Amino acid sequence: RPMLRMDPSAGLLMEEVPLARIAAAVGTPTWVYSATTLRSRARALLGALKDAALPAEVHFAVKSNPNLAILSLLAAEGCGADVVSEGELRLARAAGIPGHHIVFSGVGKTEREMRLAIAEDIHQINLESAEEAVMLSALAESLGRRMRVALRVNPDVDAGTHEKITTGKAENKFGVAIEEAPELYARLCRMPGLEVMGLAVHIGSQITGGVRPYVAAYRRLGELVSALRAQGLPVPRVDCGGGLGIAYRDEQPASPAALAGAIHEGLGNLGLQLMIEPGRWLVGPAGMLLSQVVIEKQAPGRRFVILDAAMNDLARPAMYGAWHGILPVSPAAYRAPASPADVVGPVCESSDTFAVARPLPALPPGELVGILDAGAYGASMSSTYNSRPLAAEVLVEGSQWAVIRERQGFEALLAGQRRPDWLAPA
Ligand code: LLP
Repeated sequence: RPMLRMDPSAGLLMEEVPLARIAAAVGTPTWVYSATTLRSRARALLGALKDAALPAEVHFAVKSNPNLAILSLLAAEGCGADVVSEGELRLARAAGIPGHHIVFSGVGKTEREMRLAIAEDIHQINLESAEEAVMLSALAESLGRRMRVALRVNPDVDAGTHEKITTGKAENKFGVAIEEAPELYARLCRMPGLEVMGLAVHIGSQITGGVRPYVAAYRRLGELVSALRAQGLPVPRVDCGGGLGIAYRDEQPASPAALAGAIHEGLGNLGLQLMIEPGRWLVGPAGMLLSQVVIEKQAPGRRFVILDAAMNDLARPAMYGAWHGILPVSPAAYRAPASPADVVGPVCESSDTFAVARPLPALPPGELVGILDAGAYGASMSSTYNSRPLAAEVLVEGSQWAVIRERQGFEALLAGQRRPDWLAPA
């Protein structure tokens, strides 16, 4: 990992900043991101599309990391936003992303969210059903507007990812079945409140093991574009979705160039305006969760390293059995012999486990560790479960670093809570 370096005296550095210095100043657990990595990944992705001569825009999937500083950085590199809620739309706007660089996805947009999307005149709303199309058309019409939309199609391909994050199979709740699409698309084109711009697809997340599912999906979509045009319907755009995987361990994700190749193969010769909606690939490898060892506990035949980070901070291992690399921060830890340890958090659930039988050196209380590849779906999926305030977030660039989100205070846990006056005071 180019953003990390071991210094014999300062320990693990992110870019030029010792992680121990960040922990001393901000405490732990803390999310730490490398701005240089974020920039280089954005450039690599945009560069791969350009090299393939694809006129494709990148809309960053805000759900993967909605921090304002990160959104601003990616926007400055040329990314727009893919949002799925009013909150994400507001954050994207607050980060300076203009409405015309924002796409709204998701199966359950409320009327209030649709109103905001129309008011912000966003690039397009990706529709997931006929019912939603009727609702949006009526709303836009009542406002004297026509809203740009795309129809999300479910191409029924198996992206071969974890069952909880696959989205493009027939049984998933997302999009409309590809067989229904021609009739529905024609119907959408007759709705007075809609300006139908094209199709959208997203087949799943953390897609690894080659581009085959992408090629299959984009070919099906390409055929659909031709069929719709043959009916005389306009199809200027296709949103190709996100899902590009990263190597948490030894996965072999497709490269951006290979993804560009797949898009080219299925959709490249149709004169389309194209876009993609990556989240994880852009931000996942750029972030880590910096945590401190609370204590080591030896049980019969089992060694537990108990951290001050937990499943409420990084939910992925508990939720999906996800594997994340774990690196000690102190130089001494790299000279000590390793033995298998279960790395766990302090939350009262057995699933609060970051790693099982991971070879690690002795980690005395106070020792720091970094949980790697936590930049995507890390902070964004945090909760305050066990009444643990949300962790701080820090951005590093070269030798400078800054807090980009303060650690939540305990007063936030009480904020807004009320005891009704008919309850007897304690
Ligand atoms: N577009 C749509 C419509 C999506 O539903 C998603 C992710 C993306 C784009 C971005 O996908 P990405 O490029 O990040 O794979 N929490 C899970 C991942 C859930 C993904 C949900 N949808 C995890 O931690 O693995």
